[in-house]
Amino acid sequence: MLRDRHDRPVDGGDWFIQHGTDVETRWNADVPHLTPTDHFFVRNHTEPPHVDPETWRLVVSGDGVVGETSYSLDDLKSFTSHTYERALECTGNGRSLFGSQQGTERPGTQWQMGAIGVARWTGVPLRTVLRHAGLTGDAVQVMPVGLDARYVDDGIDHGHVRRPLPIGKALDDTLVAWEMNGEPLPLDHGFPVRLVVPGWVGIASIKWLGELQVTTSVVDSPWNTRWYRMHGEGWSGDAAVLDRMPPKSIVDVTGDPEVGRMAVLRGRAWSGEATIRMVEVSTDGGRTWEEASLTGSNEPSSWVEWEHPWTPVASGEQVLVTRATDSLGRTQPEVAADNDDGYFFGAAVRHRVTVRA
Ligand code: MTE
Repeated sequence: MLRDRHDRPVDGGDWFIQHGTDVETRWNADVPHLTPTDHFFVRNHTEPPHVDPETWRLVVSGDGVVGETSYSLDDLKSFTSHTYERALECTGNGRSLFGSQQGTERPGTQWQMGAIGVARWTGVPLRTVLRHAGLTGDAVQVMPVGLDARYVDDGIDHGHVRRPLPIGKALDDTLVAWEMNGEPLPLDHGFPVRLVVPGWVGIASIKWLGELQVTTSVVDSPWNTRWYRMHGEGWSGDAAVLDRMPPKSIVDVTGDPEVGRMAVLRGRAWSGEATIRMVEVSTDGGRTWEEASLTGSNEPSSWVEWEHPWTPVASGEQVLVTRATDSLGRTQPEVAADNDDGYFFGAAVRHRVTVRA
């Protein structure tokens, strides 16, 4: 089989849907709770760097810390490590549904719903590193900078991939991670070290981390002003800034829209910085709803499996819809808020299935 430079099957294979150099995880009922690392979606803005872990250093600088400090991989590993299960989801996950479900096609990678994965990440809390580096009381943000190639588009050099992180989130649950599912990070996922910013837009979790610039004033980057921000009619100010991901849910039949007279529907639901309180299922296109049972673990900023018995009364095409409500009280709306770049498709997904006679 033909394989690309990252050794992934060029046609996407059984596990991937290929979008240029980005790949998404293909949904099917066999996707395990923890996404296997070699099946985890990939979103790279430029070329991954080949970093020598022996000479690699993480440089912490800026007027928000006392002097400049650099850390080797061993230095980071000498702090008490921490492991948690968290989802990583691209801001544009579900973008193709703006077109297929709402009739407003939006440019960019045409993700279905597979630009998300859940892994167990191991690293050191970012707050530990910042405090060790002499964080000052008036620091307001951290700018993590990636070592991948500079992003040049249409002759404009936007510099290295970077996006400011407010100090509150940096000191909360953000991790400086070197392991994914118990193994060193693979090249595509940020070797040797990346940030994991739970529940936030995927771009916050900067890969191939080289620098942390800590500042006492707000410094922007194109990744929070030009991209990963709502643009278009009705969007301005704070409402346009994207951080916490909205709740979402799906039925695990996306890859196989033909179903038998199945007894149980299964799927999963997730939400940024929240757990899932309830998943509702409609088997009549959204007219009536029933509550599904949540099964398995339900951690914040991760996903939970759900199931619901269904005995179709008729064969032929049916529309299944699910909607999640999270622990912050947010429920998936019928229609996702439109925006020029197709971010945050959080509407209840309509799954067309054909029930075999
Ligand atoms: N960090 C760097 N340095 N360069 C990138 O291109 N892509 C971001 C983020 N971190 C990116 C990055 C985006 S848009 C997403 S969705 C996630 O990484 C994807 O992480 P993954 O490829 O490990 O799934």
